[in-house]
Amino acid sequence: MSIAIMCSGGDCSGMNPAIKTFVEYAFNHNIQPYFIYDGLEGLIDGEIKEATHNDVAGINHIGGTIIRTSRSKRFYEKEFREQAYKNLEKKGIKKIIVLGGDGSFTALDIFSREFDISFVGIPSTIDNDIAGTDYCLGVDTSLNVIRHALDEIRDTSSSFKRAFVVETMGRNCGYLALISALTSGAEVCIIPELVYDLDSIKQRLEKEIKEGRSYILAIVAEGCNNTQDIADFFEDELKIESRIQVLGHIQRGGNPSVHDRLMAYEFVTYAFKELLKDELLNHVIAYKDAKFTFIDVHTLNQHKHEIKPELLDLASILSK
Ligand code: F6P
Repeated sequence: MSIAIMCSGGDCSGMNPAIKTFVEYAFNHNIQPYFIYDGLEGLIDGEIKEATHNDVAGINHIGGTIIRTSRSKRFYEKEFREQAYKNLEKKGIKKIIVLGGDGSFTALDIFSREFDISFVGIPSTIDNDIAGTDYCLGVDTSLNVIRHALDEIRDTSSSFKRAFVVETMGRNCGYLALISALTSGAEVCIIPELVYDLDSIKQRLEKEIKEGRSYILAIVAEGCNNTQDIADFFEDELKIESRIQVLGHIQRGGNPSVHDRLMAYEFVTYAFKELLKDELLNHVIAYKDAKFTFIDVHTLNQHKHEIKPELLDLASILSK
């Protein structure tokens, strides 16, 4: 039997430990592992190679993905999916593990139904925005990168009387901003999931400034699209000099944290076992309430990811 692994969409730390676990699990079960390089684009172009032990030696601690990834528009066209299928057929591959997000899973779901290819998706995105799972691979490492950046920004911020507005990634999901604001002691947290009130933030901070506060740290999720407005608010309303720091793609890098290495191990092991079943699978593995379960893509697409209300409650104090 031959099984392949691929990445799709944005990379994240933890993909390499997942790839290593995949190769080792396959060899331990006398299965030939394959790599699909460059995501769905590589699948279309036939960039599929047998994986060896050597390929995965010494990669556990490295961020990114040694098999690379891509965002593919071509895969939404039937003719390219047909081409992709022929490439898999040539190598005798009927089963794939996909590290990616919900867009990739939807693309694979269409493919799977058309060509009888089984796949199990492993939620892998720093955004932590996939319905049905509490955790996506890469989130912990990303939070640690942000924590590190915020600790350093605080050093310079506290040396001046300044407001630092730090923008985190996450697309439309405010999870990274929320957890970072809570764990880094920020004064303000602006995320798409919470209604914010600048008048009330002004009153709160004016009082604190009178009582001696000299600097402010505000974390803003990119999905709010208002980083500049928040910086202007500090300058115009609170009369405090402000600086913007867009953390950007550093949030996708960094050595995988212990948590992400362990999650990679568990995600891949359970996904692999599931994939060995003798039936057509189009499942995503989810980590829900501290247990691993499987959801089919159709069910997943019917739900919207929501941040736990308890966490939103905790952060709401920083939005008003
Ligand atoms: O989905 C992961 C993510 O890093 C988002 O947080 C961000 O909005 C986006 O990808 C950036 O995409 P790209 O790497 O294509 O610029």
